[in-house]
Amino acid sequence: MVTLFLIFEFYTMTDLIVTIDGPAASGKSTVARLLAQKLGASFLDTGAMYRAVTLAAMKDRVDLSNEDALLDALQRHKFRFSVRAGRMCISIDAVDVTDLIRHPQVTANARYIAAAPKVREKLVEMQRRFAADREKIVTEGRDQGTVAFADADVKFYLTADPAERARRRQAELETKDDGETLEQTQKALEERDQSDQNRDVGPLKTADDAIIVDTTHLDIDQVVDKLHGLVKDICSKKK
Ligand code: DC
Repeated sequence: MVTLFLIFEFYTMTDLIVTIDGPAASGKSTVARLLAQKLGASFLDTGAMYRAVTLAAMKDRVDLSNEDALLDALQRHKFRFSVRAGRMCISIDAVDVTDLIRHPQVTANARYIAAAPKVREKLVEMQRRFAADREKIVTEGRDQGTVAFADADVKFYLTADPAERARRRQAELETKDDGETLEQTQKALEERDQSDQNRDVGPLKTADDAIIVDTTHLDIDQVVDKLHGLVKDICSKKK
């Protein structure tokens, strides 16, 4: 008698996972996008996912402190995350919301969604699925190296002085004529740091095996080159 053993394994085609975590306005998004280009990898901006769920919940006038209602909103709508011309594009029910999710009100409300464990669980699942379909990925957020991809090949944690981060955020906002003062921007960033670091689930923290890079005195190209060199170095040692 022949016994047939069926072994199910979860195969992913991902060869390289690089995670970049860090506080708001530390340059993660731009650096992750450019590093992904250099490595020929896909890029995932996980903050955009939290923002998209926030926007959907706001449009539905959901009570943002009601976790089950947030989960319903996540399940009720069809979210699509894609990368076009190196930019992360997001649609909700086939409507492009790539720009709308950057609205200051969405930024301010995202902390409710970020603190909802059931929503985080679903989003982490989506992030892993996104990676599983790709050969190489650079993913950025708050919990990528600690929770979503704890076995990542290379983990970075980007930091910068709050004053420098506020200056960078101002430079971005000025082009959008937002009218916020530097002090207001820094205060808002520090409040976001507090809520990111102190939530119970997926808090912002440095993974034990992450490489910490202080970007205060570096420009974007210098950061990208530094990270690129480190990835190459680490990968060549692993072979
Ligand atoms: O990086 P960002 O500013 O686009 O993030 C938007 C919000 O989502 C912010 O409140 C932090 C949260 N976030 C998170 O909790 N976990 C992630 N992996 C990414 C973002």
